[in-house]
Amino acid sequence: MKSRALLGLLADGKIHSGESLAAKLSISRTAIWKQIRRAMDEGIRIETIRGKGYRLLTEVDLLDQHQILQGLGVPHRSAIELTVLDEVDSTNAEIVRRRRESGTTQIPVCIADCQTAGRGRRGRPWQSPRGQNLYLSMGLTFRGSFAMLDGLSLVLGVAVAEALEHQGVAEVGLKWPNDIFVGGSKLSGILVELQGELEEGVVQVVAGIGMNVHMTDAAEVDQAWSSLARAVPERRWCRNDLAASVITSVLGAVDEFTEKGFGTFRERWQSRDIFSGKELAATQGELSGTGHGIDDAGNYLIADGGELVKVRAGEISLRVQS
Ligand code: BTN
Repeated sequence: MKSRALLGLLADGKIHSGESLAAKLSISRTAIWKQIRRAMDEGIRIETIRGKGYRLLTEVDLLDQHQILQGLGVPHRSAIELTVLDEVDSTNAEIVRRRRESGTTQIPVCIADCQTAGRGRRGRPWQSPRGQNLYLSMGLTFRGSFAMLDGLSLVLGVAVAEALEHQGVAEVGLKWPNDIFVGGSKLSGILVELQGELEEGVVQVVAGIGMNVHMTDAAEVDQAWSSLARAVPERRWCRNDLAASVITSVLGAVDEFTEKGFGTFRERWQSRDIFSGKELAATQGELSGTGHGIDDAGNYLIADGGELVKVRAGEISLRVQS
């Protein structure tokens, strides 16, 4: 976003003259006007006050790499290589590219202000409007086989739920395998993609997290969705703080998962299960029954008569029967 520095100056909501803005940014008043127009075209509301200057009417929440790093503890700060982009096709795709190019031992983390080809699970697009939400991907490496991916996917759901709770969000639910729900609607989704085997027994994955923060309007989303602004409107949400919380929680969870496996996450996942005790139907196949939580490998269990049927992540999706 060309107007990023300008918006930073206007962010206090006070009136700023074109002259003072031009002087601070070392550009002409005409260039200031052009940036104001471009920002307005991107949906940011700016009032032009004749003879006085400009005032920002929309609250802007700019991403700031330094602020995100400041929100992390020292060990996590040095463990990651953080890139904050203005625009990208997909932060997951960016992590794949960066890993191919760089030989760094740090964990690559990419956050973007908007995605032009954000992707969701099952080949669906992920709506990624500019300046509204959190689009964050991390490149993670594990020793083990591809079989650990099912457990990892649930572990990441627990990590994001705990990050939100740490930020004061109440009643965060998990919809198997790893959708994050608040107030009965989806707030955040996680896409775990396999990048490949680095060497025998060393698996590289990309964990992409999308979280609706300020979004209050999204005509294209085809399911009930929420955002932090909708669910907790009284709070002033800051994407930098949320990003730091999510990174901290994911890194902590990944360490624990690497050391101890899925075991310690089972109860933490189960206590947030939105399917528990509900009548469920699988979207493919004949399966239906009552939600019964997960087993110690992260498979979902459905009670059908006296029998418990296992559903493996990636095989089918579940919904509450209407
Ligand atoms: C889902 O369908 O629930 C998963 C959505 C995952 C979206 C995130 S946004 C950051 C990362 N980049 C992508 O292209 N997708 C993930």
